[in-house]
Amino acid sequence: MRELEIPKHVAVIMDGNGRWAVRCGLERTAGHKAGEKVLMKWVRAGVHLGISEMSFYTFSTENWTRSPSEVRFLMNISKQIMRARAPEFLELGVRVKWVGRKTRLWKSVLSELEKIQNLTKNCTKMTVNFCINYGGRAEILDAVTKLVEDARAGRFSGSKVTQKQFEKCMYSSSMRPVDLLIRTSGEQRISNFLLWQIAYAEMIFLDDAWPDTDEQTLQRCVNDYNLRTRRFGAM
Ligand code: IPE
Ligand code: IPE
Ligand code: MG
Repeated sequence: MRELEIPKHVAVIMDGNGRWAVRCGLERTAGHKAGEKVLMKWVRAGVHLGISEMSFYTFSTENWTRSPSEVRFLMNISKQIMRARAPEFLELGVRVKWVGRKTRLWKSVLSELEKIQNLTKNCTKMTVNFCINYGGRAEILDAVTKLVEDARAGRFSGSKVTQKQFEKCMYSSSMRPVDLLIRTSGEQRISNFLLWQIAYAEMIFLDDAWPDTDEQTLQRCVNDYNLRTRRFGAM
């Protein structure tokens, strides 16, 4: 049997927390709480499988339109994850990075993110990107703005921008292209996630709500990924 090919970068749209909770007769926020435990299962499974990088869509630039109490809960739980799970990330050898826009993001969340980024900066087993206050369009626009600023300041000359130069201006300049994108909850859309990076990603849409998934789900997705033929425009 052929050896399993492990995707280098797996991006995950963790969707369906709210509906899962309502189905269980609970508040939507209980779904986010359950989702946090599942997130750690996927991180552990990712390390175990030998995935190099995982990106988790945690809070989108559009999620600010939710009720103030849900937004508050999501900001607070993001902080808690960074604080409470820091020893686990360290032990697993996981480097944590924040990917997103600064504007509007709570200062206290930013400061927790800075702490964990610093704490795990020498970890090399896997990189986990938390996409918080992240939007694919915002990222592209912010990169263009940076390029224009660089050109104005004389740091960039030439009339054409290369892909490499553009990617250097993204939130995480070292992010690999996404090999496998997984979305839970039955929705089959991208919802403004990593628009640039998913250009040639294989996509898997699962019907399960995020809190109903576990390590086995990721394993099954990697198995499915191995059944795909990636052509990148070639024959
Ligand atoms: C995903 O679950 C988590 C976030 C968007 C933060 P949702 O909160 O979107 O749950 P559904 O999709 O409404 O069920
Ligand atoms: C995408 O889910 C955002 C996150 C998982 C953080 P949403 O629930 O916000 O997306 P839509 O509204 O269904 O497209
Ligand atoms: Mg949703």
